[in-house]
Amino acid sequence: MIKTGTDIALAAHYIRQGELVALPTETVYGLGANALDAIAVAKIFEAKQRPTFDPLIVHIADMEMLGKLFLSPIDPLVFTLAKAFWPGPLTIVFKKTDLVPDLVTSGLDTVGVRMPSHPMALELIRTSGCPIAAPSANLFSQLSPTRPEHVQKQLTNVAYLLDGGSTNVGIESTIVAVENGETEMLRPGIITPEEIALVTGKMPLAHGQSNKIVAPGLLKHHYSPRKPLYFTDSGIKDHKHKGLIKWTFNNAEIDWVRTIVLSEKMNLVEAAANLFGALHAMEEDERVEVIYADKLPLEGIGIAIMDRLTKAAYQYNV
Ligand code: TXA
Ligand code: MG
Repeated sequence: MIKTGTDIALAAHYIRQGELVALPTETVYGLGANALDAIAVAKIFEAKQRPTFDPLIVHIADMEMLGKLFLSPIDPLVFTLAKAFWPGPLTIVFKKTDLVPDLVTSGLDTVGVRMPSHPMALELIRTSGCPIAAPSANLFSQLSPTRPEHVQKQLTNVAYLLDGGSTNVGIESTIVAVENGETEMLRPGIITPEEIALVTGKMPLAHGQSNKIVAPGLLKHHYSPRKPLYFTDSGIKDHKHKGLIKWTFNNAEIDWVRTIVLSEKMNLVEAAANLFGALHAMEEDERVEVIYADKLPLEGIGIAIMDRLTKAAYQYNV
């Protein structure tokens, strides 16, 4: 068991010592280390069994930290985005300084940075006095953690788990790259391309459109529960013990052993917040052998939810 509590001073002490701390953010729990200490960062890859081609997001608490990480002069678009969405669930990818270890960025000349809005995350970064590199606090390719128990289930070599209860956004940050005055979407999240266009005056390019920005780590198979996952619209096979993750209302036509509704009110924000909790519950429920999930509408935040679900179900739906 990882030592757990709400002692931010102790957590900051571990960060300064080069140890790992799991911390709550408003999106999902992160597995944090001092972003400027390559040896501490190496421990993240080890604990997660994460391949080193997959770069980490660096978390900051104020704009002063930003200047040290990004190469100056910083593109004004970075400030426009930061002003509109930070603190909050937006990661901005941009050219980095030599201060950022290559391990953090997988050797890329860019770094992904975000200022989380969770008060415990902000206080931990401030008290540690350094930016914190943190991927989601799960084993590589498995389900992202939205509660401290989800971190306990997957990780062991962590000095301290900062308990902030359930995270409220529930899916990982939107990632946008900035280059030559253009933005490009790298990962969908709760902040949509339309919202980004409202502040930049221009729709971001779709992922892959610029051919210049590399986004490693965005694998087709990711976020997976340790049980088969199928979509209900491709037909219900004759599995014996089926669990169902429903978009809304519960119809009881088939004898599901467990049903979880993502949002009775058909609210996509609520569905996003409940998504990983539902997948973890199905993974943990011994009665459930196979998981089925409804597809959600591909609009607004539904796009980010379907991105995660499609990756979770990838190996069973090809
Ligand atoms: O909400 C979140 O973003 C959470 C919390 C903890 O902040 N973190 C998170 O990190 O989801 P992670 O490691 O699971 O996903 C990070 C992804 C990488 O897989 C990669 O696709 C992208 O961010 N990324 C990071 N730095 C990048 C860079 N320099 N260039 C392109 N993509 C980058
Ligand atoms: Mg992750």
